[in-house]
Amino acid sequence: MESLKASQIVPPEEQWLDEVATILLSGGFAAFPTETVYGLGGLATSTKAIAAIFSLKGRPSTNPLIVHLASEHQIGDVAALNTPLIRERVERLCPLIPGPLSLVLPALKDRSVPAVRADGETVAVRIPRHPVAHALLKRVGAPLAAPSANRSTRVSPTLASHVLDEFPTAGLFILDGGPCEIGLESTVIDLISPTPTILRPGSITQETLEATLGESVAAPFAQGSTVGTREIARSPGLTALHYSPKTPLYRLPEWKKLEQKTANIGLITFSRERASAILARETRALSPQGNLEEAAAQLYAVLRELDTCGLDAIVVGEIPGHGVGEAILDRLRRAEGR
Ligand code: TXA
Ligand code: MG
Repeated sequence: MESLKASQIVPPEEQWLDEVATILLSGGFAAFPTETVYGLGGLATSTKAIAAIFSLKGRPSTNPLIVHLASEHQIGDVAALNTPLIRERVERLCPLIPGPLSLVLPALKDRSVPAVRADGETVAVRIPRHPVAHALLKRVGAPLAAPSANRSTRVSPTLASHVLDEFPTAGLFILDGGPCEIGLESTVIDLISPTPTILRPGSITQETLEATLGESVAAPFAQGSTVGTREIARSPGLTALHYSPKTPLYRLPEWKKLEQKTANIGLITFSRERASAILARETRALSPQGNLEEAAAQLYAVLRELDTCGLDAIVVGEIPGHGVGEAILDRLRRAEGR
């Protein structure tokens, strides 16, 4: 599927926004920055674009895509806000939109090709707040389905150069928006279930969602709870072995339990204070001052960098579990064990 034409990073100037919008409107695909991670977008209504995106990523057809919109006023163009409860939930969440939040809603089935929804009855929608994503969505004037711009199961890209590393010869234009501010994928919340349910944790936390919605929110991904098979089927991003570097990754307690150890490892610590736990060839503090938002923003770039160092293992030290720490720990649990 992948052509052998070099992919290209381009600046987010008028000329390139127009060029990329034209490509998208003719059923092509392109990469663009969002505040969470870079996306690989195509028209949600284009069978050709969506097939190409699944093929490029090597993504299983059972894993649906998030549909991106320029404004919250377009949610009703792709999703059915057909019960007072769902309408009210969406309205209550508006203070968090645009932003790093994806809403799973009943789908209007003629507004996205079945592959976007993995043939299901629901659609995930998100309104990104990154100015380049917004400018592109406005120019295109139609919903864009966009998974993270990485090969399936790999670490999501938080820089334009990460996208180029993933797809060097896909003939892809990559709009450069600099480093992603948040650095972890959006929180995905199912608003259809009797209790709204977080399907993927992110920088918008359970606590914030409960306060904004004014009702309790379930978080079946949380450590110690077992995720039901129903949830797994509905949000395959929850399945194990996602977000993985090529180098085997261990959490520090598991690493300490291993009998055969090497010093050819990269140690990732949360802050500078926690840097000296074990002997390592490379050490990276995600946030020298111990700031969780900064740690989240750095995580994927650090994993990618250490992945190029010829290490036998990447070992991750203790990360606080509150706030966005919950989402960081979720990604690390899924990156373990390759
Ligand atoms: O931050 C983000 O969400 C980024 C940027 C580009 O917007 N996108 C992203 O897309 O992370 P992707 O494809 O890598 O992850 C989408 C997640 C998957 O876990 C998928 O299972 C879930 O959203 N998802 C999509 N549609 C769904 C649906 N209808 N029901 C349940 N889960 C859904
Ligand atoms: Mg992804």
